[in-house]
Amino acid sequence: MLPAMVTRLSGADGFVNGAIRDRYVRYARGEPGLMVFEAMGVHAAKSGPLLRASSDSFVPGLRSAVDACRSVSPTRLAAQIIHFLKIARSGWRQRIQDLSPQDIAQIVDDYGEAAVRIREAGFDAVELHMAHAYTLSSFLSRRNDRRDEFGGRALENRLRVPSMVLQRVRECVGDDYVIGIRYDGEEAIKDGYSVEDASMFATRFAALGADYLSISAGGKFEDAVQTPGEPLYPYTGYSGDRCMPSAAYPDGLNVYLSDGIRQALRERGFATPVVATGKIRTPELAHKILNEGRADMIGMARQLLADPDWPKKIREGHADRVVPCVYNNVCKMLDERFHRVRCTLWRSGDAHAPDAPDGATEAPRWPQDGALHATFAAGRVRLTWPAAHADHDVYGYLVLRSENGGAWRHIDSARGVALRFTDVNAMSDTAYRYQIVAYDLAGRRSTPLGPAAVKGDPV
Ligand SMILES: Cc1cc2nc3c(=O)[nH]c(=O)nc-3n(C[C@H](O)[C@H](O)[C@H](O)COP(=O)(O)O)c2cc1C
Ligand code: SF4
Repeated sequence: MLPAMVTRLSGADGFVNGAIRDRYVRYARGEPGLMVFEAMGVHAAKSGPLLRASSDSFVPGLRSAVDACRSVSPTRLAAQIIHFLKIARSGWRQRIQDLSPQDIAQIVDDYGEAAVRIREAGFDAVELHMAHAYTLSSFLSRRNDRRDEFGGRALENRLRVPSMVLQRVRECVGDDYVIGIRYDGEEAIKDGYSVEDASMFATRFAALGADYLSISAGGKFEDAVQTPGEPLYPYTGYSGDRCMPSAAYPDGLNVYLSDGIRQALRERGFATPVVATGKIRTPELAHKILNEGRADMIGMARQLLADPDWPKKIREGHADRVVPCVYNNVCKMLDERFHRVRCTLWRSGDAHAPDAPDGATEAPRWPQDGALHATFAAGRVRLTWPAAHADHDVYGYLVLRSENGGAWRHIDSARGVALRFTDVNAMSDTAYRYQIVAYDLAGRRSTPLGPAAVKGDPV
């Protein structure tokens, strides 16, 4: 499943345009089981480039994107809908405490109406955004300090508005339509909620008829770091790290959340499917999570941005052609700055992940006398190598490393134009060997160049 990922490809008007259609068609051609279109506003408040579902005028554009995806792929299509509060460059932000009962009633109405538009546009499902820094997540939060029936420490009160929204959406779209909920399994902030509360939310959502629960983490305003003059971006603190974990974090770090929530649901007799997301990039890890019953679906966001053909390649037995995400979060940085979201591994100038051109049959090759050079000095291993050849472009280079004679591991990648790499994660008392593997636009790999061995000075 492709979880929602804003593209910043729309204008501030929120209409679907050609770039958005092309982005989702590109994802669709990779044939994930389910694709969730990026968060779209249920209301008209300003928020830079963001899709909207806040009036009927958005339906034809959304329908055109749905039709374009369906014409190339059997992938099921969902749309995520979101309500958010106002923020200003000064650092001021509206809080849920500022909302009157009438404002809350309006939010409930807006969700119901937007969900109907999503169904009219032809999506298979609507997903209610209750995660991260946005309005419904702030109601669920343990930091919700309203003093009325919509807040306080009482769990039932914190659940009230999200439950009202889910019930309204169900009334509006009918019983024969799929409603998913995306929410945090853990807020990852001081005094925030953990998987304990999240498990109770799950049973309420399941009891109210949610069809799947997609578990995220963190992404809160409470620990975000303000850049003077810029709107507060809720993924700049530790909770932001937990939401979009970088290469510094282990794979699958948030799986214990979907696992705990799923167990709680099953113990209470609910079969509602649960989605795990967060640095799940290999078929081995995905299968292990599913086989161990720790989730029912695997969400894969940045890996599918880096290589939308991942599902198809795995299905066709070509795991060795996947272009791996390196989790350097350049895409996240682009989102933060309201720039068009793209992957740093794509060729410069490409608006979307490139396609494998017809006619290329051979894997990339190294020049006859090509050699990998490695030096270890001042705590850094510096690698240089010659350009490989390919029938079409050399798309990139995988950097592989083995420690003290151990297994080879992919540690990073370089784009096709780069013929050098610096490894800053080397310890001077460890023996390292490196290899470089060139890959083309189809992900076909060369034989490894190397190995080149280095050892630092004794400690
Ligand atoms: C650029 C970018 C935009 C995102 N936009 C959304 C969004 O609109 N809604 C949402 O629920 N999550 C959003 N996310 C979070 C992802 O859906 C996903 O949970 C997160 O990236 C972790 O999964 P991954 O490790 O597979 O990338 C976004 C992530 C990124 C990198
Ligand atoms: S920009 Fe970096 S983190 Fe984002 S998809 Fe590409 S490789 Fe992954």
